[in-house]
Amino acid sequence: MIVEDQAGVTFAVEAAMARTPDPRLREIMGALVRHAHAFVREVRLTEDEFEAGLDFLVGIGQATTSTKNEVVLACDVLGVSTLVGLLNNPMGPDHTAAALLGPFWRKNAPACGLGDSIARADTPGVPLLVSGQVRDRSGAPIVGAKVDVWQASPVGLYENQDPDQPDMNLRGLFTADEQGAFHFRSVRPAGYPVPTDGPVGLLLSAQQRHPYRPAHLHFMVTAPGYKTLVTQVFADDSENLDSDVTFGVIHSLLGRFETEDGPDGPRCSLVYDLVLEPGESRIPAAPIP
Ligand SMILES: [Fe+2]
Repeated sequence: MIVEDQAGVTFAVEAAMARTPDPRLREIMGALVRHAHAFVREVRLTEDEFEAGLDFLVGIGQATTSTKNEVVLACDVLGVSTLVGLLNNPMGPDHTAAALLGPFWRKNAPACGLGDSIARADTPGVPLLVSGQVRDRSGAPIVGAKVDVWQASPVGLYENQDPDQPDMNLRGLFTADEQGAFHFRSVRPAGYPVPTDGPVGLLLSAQQRHPYRPAHLHFMVTAPGYKTLVTQVFADDSENLDSDVTFGVIHSLLGRFETEDGPDGPRCSLVYDLVLEPGESRIPAAPIP
């Protein structure tokens, strides 16, 4: 098809893609082109702006390394990652809501006994005791469920970002007991900024947005016959709950962080139950080794 004017470009591209044998690829690319062309027309994109957009895309690729994925980060701060997660993991009244896996989960976290501390060295911070029950939607305990937990340190860094923390610090894999219960010790996590040394940081700055996530714990819970639950539990007294840079906070994922005075200063506890849906137990690909 020979293009006669700007309006004809969209028809020409759709026609060129119409023979795509894979129906899902045809649907996705057709919608992508229609929306992208409509976007260009709506904002009347200038050539300079087009070049700036291309530079951004090239930049997020070039800023991606084995320890940082700037492309995922860009999707996160634009809300796309959370939208995909919520569409594919609908919230319901009778199971724990899902949240993003995030970029910091590692496979093969150390297996721990119930009650162990996941602070593998002398990690300064407010002591935290976490407990809960893994159960199904009927309330029955899921005996032997695997509870994989990981978190940032009290200075807001995951161990693989921080040379001062030992390998696998603040990560652990627990097995729920005969009542589906689990408990472990840790230190209270801090909120943290997403990386701002790349194109995404420049974008946030241009939009006058802060780069912070509120304090949270990550959980991945698996058991045969149940859909793997990947979620985050947020400290209900954390800063930035209503302005998480990745839009990940859901009301039902706020956990009550109770603080009290202990013999050695303040200490904190969290009780949070994790309710699984029936489904396929699968382990996602790890974003980092
Ligand atoms: Fe996190």
